[in-house]
Amino acid sequence: PGHGGPAPKGLDFTAVAPNREDRIVTPEGYQQSVVIRWGDPVLPGAPAFDFDNQTAAGQAKQFGYNNDFCGLVPFGHDRWLMGSNHEYTTESFMFKGYSAANPTDEQIRVGWAAHGFSVVVVERDRRTGKLLPRVDRRYNRRITVRTEFEVTGPAAGSALLKSAADSTGRTVFGTFGNCAGGVTPWGTILSGEENFNGYFANGDKITDPVVKARTSRYGLPSGASTRKWERLDPRFDLAKDPNEFNRFGWVVEIDPQDPDAKPVKHTALGRFKHEGATIQVARDGRVVCYMGDDERFDYIYKFVSRGRFQPGSSRRAREENKKLLHEGTLYVARFTGDSPAAEVDGTGKLPADGQFDGTGEWIPLASGSTSFVEGFTAEEVYVFTRLAADKAGATKMDRPEDIEPNPVTGRVYAALTNNSDRGKAGKEGATEVNPRVGNRNGHVLEWEEARGDHTATTFTWRLLLVCGDPATADTYFGGYDKSQVSPISCPDNVAFDKHGNLWIATDGNALGSNDGLFAVPTEGPRRGQVKQFLTVPVGAETCGPVIQDDFVLVSVQHPGELDGASADNPLAHWPDGGTAQPRPAVAQVWKPGRDIGC
Ligand code: FEO
Ligand code: CA
Ligand code: CA
Ligand code: CA
Repeated sequence: PGHGGPAPKGLDFTAVAPNREDRIVTPEGYQQSVVIRWGDPVLPGAPAFDFDNQTAAGQAKQFGYNNDFCGLVPFGHDRWLMGSNHEYTTESFMFKGYSAANPTDEQIRVGWAAHGFSVVVVERDRRTGKLLPRVDRRYNRRITVRTEFEVTGPAAGSALLKSAADSTGRTVFGTFGNCAGGVTPWGTILSGEENFNGYFANGDKITDPVVKARTSRYGLPSGASTRKWERLDPRFDLAKDPNEFNRFGWVVEIDPQDPDAKPVKHTALGRFKHEGATIQVARDGRVVCYMGDDERFDYIYKFVSRGRFQPGSSRRAREENKKLLHEGTLYVARFTGDSPAAEVDGTGKLPADGQFDGTGEWIPLASGSTSFVEGFTAEEVYVFTRLAADKAGATKMDRPEDIEPNPVTGRVYAALTNNSDRGKAGKEGATEVNPRVGNRNGHVLEWEEARGDHTATTFTWRLLLVCGDPATADTYFGGYDKSQVSPISCPDNVAFDKHGNLWIATDGNALGSNDGLFAVPTEGPRRGQVKQFLTVPVGAETCGPVIQDDFVLVSVQHPGELDGASADNPLAHWPDGGTAQPRPAVAQVWKPGRDIGC
């Protein structure tokens, strides 16, 4: 009241205050439950989790480590196929007495099995409302660093993708660094391979200058790798096999409804540090995939398919739709501000027109076997996409993370998580679309494609949020009264509820409190009123999230990861409590008998 009337639909809850607690804190009246955690059984025959005696064979049948993206594919009444990414491992929290310089062979193999992806059948218990995992013999799956993937699209079979592990350039073993993702309208799950470079060793020993330059643009790994995988598998040693590196950094697609379907890597979507991938069906039936490249000063991309979406849930339609990401046009975004450059001074102060806003265009990079970038073949555009986008003059962004279209309005939202390097010596300074130097708290960008057509090549944009402490002058909350909003820092994952409210998960709260999940109306008199829905336990990052009508799932990634903490000195104990080691997990929050936010 006094600030735009009654709460918008789905946002009628009291905001959670910032805190440093070792638990999930929700608004009053909400219940919570752990759906599944690291080490819980996924496949039949999985051993019970035993922190002190984890084995690679056991881990390959258990839920992996550091679950990030979470997606639900409907699978009957109150039943879903849940897909979870296992982005990376933190061995010092997984093994007591872990030596980073000298991991044991078994520890390395546990790490391989703890990466990748899980498919788990989950069912809602009618009596308690809790989502319960089932050890389903037919549908549950574990995908690890060893699982076979088929390469699709215009760069499949390219010489650039042939390695000692695979002379065809059409088969890759494993996926890792999987960050955000998306559930497709045809019921599969997309997952982005993000920080793949850190798994490789000895990039400094590459002798060919062209190969070295191409590798360097993705972060040249020097010397031994963090996890020392190269000791047991030479494909992670760039001195021995520089091409294996090119086989990661893709969007992968997994069909949880067909456990016999080989997972795929889509070359048509380009190769970069893929944060995630979200699909929008355009008016003419072509599908559009929005993607961010999560690195300081990297880019926002979209892909427009050549083929058209087949509606319906038949197996035949799904098989046709699974080919949509094989061929189309890959674009990168260029943003132009509409205020004079002198008015964008790097402090976050609004320009005279009262908005960080402007216009933009999608620059085509390649379509099928045609390259639009001078000096690049189409294969080179797909495999070295960052270099092609550099050449094309794309706009350098503040770490583009998750991107998703609003199902109610059609406008598209991107989380720009932060960029401490903006404005540093030798680096680009403030631009209207990335308006703060030393950006610690990030911002949220909104755009609408021309004529509301997702295949359009021009758009208009504005910043919805310039995040941080609302008490400071460098923040902006859609023009809403800043005394009535929750502080928010480092937006990472985005999602929508059925009302069109934007939900934002954070990673790395630079304001000193725990990360959390926030909701904000994108329309109406309360546009910009950010409210914190929950906080995750101390040391954790909030991922997922899944916003259903009557429950929310969050991935609680790296709980208890605090300065000075390790398996030898756990400083936090969620979810098992007592003196237990912290464990990454998927958690459910709901209000009995009510929809979320009602
Ligand atoms: Fe894995 Fe960009 O966060
Ligand atoms: Ca402006
Ligand atoms: Ca992320
Ligand atoms: Ca993150």
